[in-house]
Amino acid sequence: MKKKRIEGREQIIEIVDRFYARVREDDLIGPIFNDVAQVNWETHTQKIYDFWEMLLFGSEDYKGRPFPPHIPLGLKPEHFQRWLQLFFSTVDDSFEGQKADEIKMRALNIGRNFLNNLQARGLS
Ligand code: HEM
Repeated sequence: MKKKRIEGREQIIEIVDRFYARVREDDLIGPIFNDVAQVNWETHTQKIYDFWEMLLFGSEDYKGRPFPPHIPLGLKPEHFQRWLQLFFSTVDDSFEGQKADEIKMRALNIGRNFLNNLQARGLS
C-alpha cells in the first residue's frame, strides 16, 4: 500500500495507537507499561497525542513535563532501544516524507536525552 504523509493530529493518533498496540504486546517493554507503571492507556494516549502534535505542528495542548514519569521505572539502554525500534517501524510501515522523518528524529533525540539524564543520575 502507498505510504502516507503525516498531515496533522489524525495521523498522529494513528501512529500512537499502532505504536502502543505493539508496545503493550512487547515482551521487553510491555511489562513496564502494563505492570510497573500500570498505565491508564486512555489518559496516557491523549497526552501523547498532544505531545506529538505540539512537537510537529506547534499546538499548545500539551502541558506536562515529559521526563519525570520515567525516573522511577528502572529503564535501561535496551528498553530505549526497543522503544525506538517499535516507534520507527510503526512510522515506516505506513508513512513517509518530511514529517515522518521529523517524528523519528525527535523520538531518537528525546530518547537519547532521557537515557543520558537517567545515566547522569545513576539510575540506568
Ligand atoms: C523504554 C522507554 C520508555 C518507557 C518504558 C516509557 C514509559 C512511560 C510511562 C510509564 C509513562 C507514564 C504514563 C502515564 O501514566 O501517563 C510515560 C510518560 C511519557 N513518556 Fe515515556 N517511556 C519511554 C520512552 C519515552 C520516549 C523515548 C519518549 C519521547 C520520545 C516518551 C515520552 C513520554 C511522554 C511525553 C510522557 C507523558 C509525560 C506527562 O506529561 O505526564 N517516553 N512514559
